[in-house]
Parts: sequence; structure tokens; C-alpha cells
Amino acid sequence: MEKNEILEWLKSDDQENLEKLWRLADEVRRDNVGEEVHLRGLIEVSNFCARDCGYCGIRVGNQEVCRYRMTADEIMDSVQMSVNFGYGTVVLQAGEDYGITCEWLSDIITRIKLETNLAITLSLGERAEAELVAWRQAGADRYLLRFETSNRELYDRIHPPLPGRFSDRFQILRGLREIGYEVGSGIMVGIPGQSFDDLVNDILLFKEYDIDMIGIGPYIPHPGTPLGMSSEEHLCPSGEQVPGTELMTCKVVALTRILCPLINIPSTTALATINRVEGRVHGLSRGANIVMPNLTPKKYRELYEIYPAKASCDENADESNSRIKNSISAMGRVVGVGRGDSANKKTRAV
Ligand code: 5AD
Repeated sequence: MEKNEILEWLKSDDQENLEKLWRLADEVRRDNVGEEVHLRGLIEVSNFCARDCGYCGIRVGNQEVCRYRMTADEIMDSVQMSVNFGYGTVVLQAGEDYGITCEWLSDIITRIKLETNLAITLSLGERAEAELVAWRQAGADRYLLRFETSNRELYDRIHPPLPGRFSDRFQILRGLREIGYEVGSGIMVGIPGQSFDDLVNDILLFKEYDIDMIGIGPYIPHPGTPLGMSSEEHLCPSGEQVPGTELMTCKVVALTRILCPLINIPSTTALATINRVEGRVHGLSRGANIVMPNLTPKKYRELYEIYPAKASCDENADESNSRIKNSISAMGRVVGVGRGDSANKKTRAV
């Protein structure tokens, strides 16, 4: 698909036309990754963060946040729930927390690998290459690092670097690939200052970088952040600003599936947050094949507030598990068995 065609879809408001897009994305999904919806147990290990990203509720500058870091035993309890629910993967996610040391996490990875058959995904921010190598050697399988936007100017505006460090997430993504991780990335849709052209470039980059998993969620303003408090100021000129809507997010999911047929695409919690009733199902019927049920202990869940009113905060792991499995069956889809490795990575000679 050419640049212009992607742009036309993103700007299309014609219901009937969009039905064609949804149908095509759903067909491509079925033909390439099948009917299975793989579940990944998400464990939000820590909400400490060294970074001060303009949009994110757990940024270091937000002093309202009560900070926590789970103990190794608490993490292992959540890992066990993942096994009990029959999930194939645990995702260990945190802010960029340097209190999570290389050794501490390596031990936990080793323990998970000894005690379970789960695949392990890490999502811990821009960590040093030596740490990424050590964690891979300890047994971690996948790493998620969204590039958020391919517009460098916009990226710089909302991602102040750590002192003395330049943030180049594309370079880190290439490094992760070389280290042997299955590589995940993604973007937010509707960041103030994100234009339709930017969004087209984001989608084309997913393909160019041959990323194995892409997470796409709407930007949701957080009142405790600079961007959340002053969104209006940063908007693109009228007609150019991407809206952070469910519809726009679904279009990006569908186009991503069509362009990158074999990758894994989650129907994200942010999408489920802006449409609580149907967001998750819409994602799954318009290209997505993954859901990440939250396994974080309830007492920590609401403290991991990257954006307000996160969909998973009002229920516990048991409730999310049943609700998600029921909605997958109601769609005529099946819950995935096994690790659900990316079919995209399997096509690449390592
Ligand atoms: N709205 C939507 N998504 C957000 N994230 C962080 N803050 C927000 C927000 N305000 C997303 C980022 C990050 C992922 C873990 O959560 O894309 O990579």
C-alpha cells in the first residue's frame, strides 16, 4: 500500500468504505495468524521512573504518585496466576526504574524459566545494552519499546532525555534484534502535534523495521502531566492534527495488519479504556490477535496510572480473565494455546 492510500484511509469518514477496511484487515489477520487470540499476563512490576515524558502519569516529575516496586515473591505469585489461567507469556513492565538492577531481574527471569514454560516479555524502557544482553541470556524472549512517534521534533518535545544521554529508540530496536529478542514497538495515536503525515510515516516504519509486534493505543490526556494540562497549545493546524479517538486507533490497527500480515498486534488497554464496552472487541475484529490481561496485584494497579481511568483498574485478575475469555468466545475466536511467538520473527533467519 502506497503512502497516499494510507493517508486516504486515515482521513476517510465514510462508514461503508471503512467497513471494507475492517473486513480486509480481519481477513488478512485470519489468513496469516489464524483465529487464536493469545493472552499475555501483564505484571506492572514497578511505577518508579527516571524519565519525565510529557504525557505519562508515572513520569518522575509527578509527585502525586505513590511509588511501589513489587518484591520477587509478589512477582512470582503473579507469574503463577499466568500459569493457572493458561497464558503462554508474562510481560514484566515498569517505568524506567534503575532500582530494578541487572542482577535482581536476571534472577527473577531465571526463576520463571526454571519453574514455568512461559515466554517472558520485558518492557522496561531504554536500558543499557549490557543489561539487555544479560536479561536475554537469563532467558527473556521478547522486548517491547514503543517509538511513540517517528516525528523526531515531536518525540524530542515530549521525551526529555536523561542528562548526558541521547534517546534513539530506533537504534535500541535494532540492538534488541541483534541480541536475539523478538522485538515489539508501537505508537500512541493522537499525540498533540502529531499530523496525519506523521502517522503514515509511523505505519510505514513498522514495515521497514520489520517489527514483530506492534502496540497501538490512543493518547489519553493525564491531568498530572505537562501535555495533559496544555494539549490545546501544541495541536497541529486544523485538519492536520490526528484525533486520539477509537476510530482513528482502529484504522491504524487495521492498516498495520494489512501492511504487516504476520506480526502480533494487541488490542490495547488504552483502546479498551476509551470505549469500555466495545474497544477491545473492535481491536480484535479489525486486525488485532493479542490481549494482555492485567495480573498486577490490585493494590498496585491503580498506582500504575500512565493515563487516567485505565480499563483494568476496576476488576481483579480473575474477573479480567473470565471477561476476556468470554468475549473471545462470543466473537467466534479461540484462546491461543502455547507461547504465541510472532509468526513474523519465524520468517527471519536469525
Ligand atoms: N496515553 C496513552 N498511552 C500512554 N502511554 C503512556 N502514557 C500514555 C497516555 N497518557 C503508553 C506509551 C508507553 C506505554 C507503556 O503506555 O505508549 O509506551
